[in-house]
Amino acid sequence: MSLYLDNAATSFPKPESVYESINRALREVGVSPGRGGYRRGLEATRLLFETRESVAAFFGIDDSSRVVFTHSATESLNLAVLGLVRPGDHIISTSAEHNALVRPLHRAAQRGAEITWVEADRRGFVTPEQIAAALRPSTRLVALGHCSNVTGAIQPIAEIAGVARRAGALLLLDAAQSAGMIPIDVQAVGIDLLAAPGHKGLMGPQGTGILYVAGGVELEPLVVGGTGGYSSGMEQPSAMPERFESGTHNLPGIIGLGAGIEFIRTVGLDAIRKREEALVARIMQGLGALPGVTCHGPLPGEPRGSLVSFTAEGIDPQSIGFRLDHEFDICVRVGLHCAPAAHRTIGTYPDGAVRVSPGYFTTDEEVDAFLGAMGAILRSR
Ligand SMILES: Cc1ncc(COP(=O)(O)O)c(C=O)c1O
Repeated sequence: MSLYLDNAATSFPKPESVYESINRALREVGVSPGRGGYRRGLEATRLLFETRESVAAFFGIDDSSRVVFTHSATESLNLAVLGLVRPGDHIISTSAEHNALVRPLHRAAQRGAEITWVEADRRGFVTPEQIAAALRPSTRLVALGHCSNVTGAIQPIAEIAGVARRAGALLLLDAAQSAGMIPIDVQAVGIDLLAAPGHKGLMGPQGTGILYVAGGVELEPLVVGGTGGYSSGMEQPSAMPERFESGTHNLPGIIGLGAGIEFIRTVGLDAIRKREEALVARIMQGLGALPGVTCHGPLPGEPRGSLVSFTAEGIDPQSIGFRLDHEFDICVRVGLHCAPAAHRTIGTYPDGAVRVSPGYFTTDEEVDAFLGAMGAILRSR
């Protein structure tokens, strides 16, 4: 099997327990939660509830009904932005964001919101002072990523949350590159809306995501329809989480996500973070020793997630990715990573960069095989 170093896109492999739980969910549960009153349906409802509870506990959420299951971080971000923002609202975001956030924000702007894009520095960081300087009386939302999928920069989120709170603005955090890798406690930090994929650091399957909506935050649903209960009226129910979960749930996926979170709990988030930090350090050290290679993003010692983006003199990122794949059977992600502004900020637009993202199951030997392949590619560039 090929050597997979694209965990920032989706984590692979998943823990064995995730595969087993999905298999069991499909074979032994099979039915939809919250639909039939029969006992097997109730069992499905119980499993859905248990995963909701475990997501809530994982992020320090005291009321699990505020956790909405979605299909991806993208869907969560769309719901958070387009469900909240009204014409005339002012929103602050940054140049480090993924299109999953940029495009809903752009759509909100087309509908009459105003957006201030705070410029990240060359290493990918924004400061609480920059956010504070962008505030206006009409600022409704501060929306940004916890960890950049291009630079790996981890933003000073607690301080930024403080700035937003003091100004009476809500904080939306895109935790696509941090959930399951960096501890997040929504209440301790003051996060009003938390969007996360289930299929990256949380180790669940594709087709899963969550949105946490703090008590008192009112969103308009983007999708309406059948919710199992509350069937009599034409209006979408106001009860959480049904208000945002119309249609049949991805129960096998959600059960797999529950198994992923259980795996993280058993191994420990600290152990996962330490392991991934060690892998990233090994990659940066190895790449740094290769002639003409520049690693972008935070300097060693600055807060960085589990990825490294680099460029090399005399060879474009696309050629590196192609040769890694075709000559060495190694999967990395090249190009603009759905975040063109982030590449402009770090000076790698329009060609982009090569992104290497190990996961908890990546071995030192795999990193060394990647570094050996890079050495060979650069010698023959
Ligand atoms: C920073 C960031 N935000 C959002 C997303 C979108 O996540 P999903 O693929 O679950 O929609 C990604 C995925 O790569 C990401 O890296």
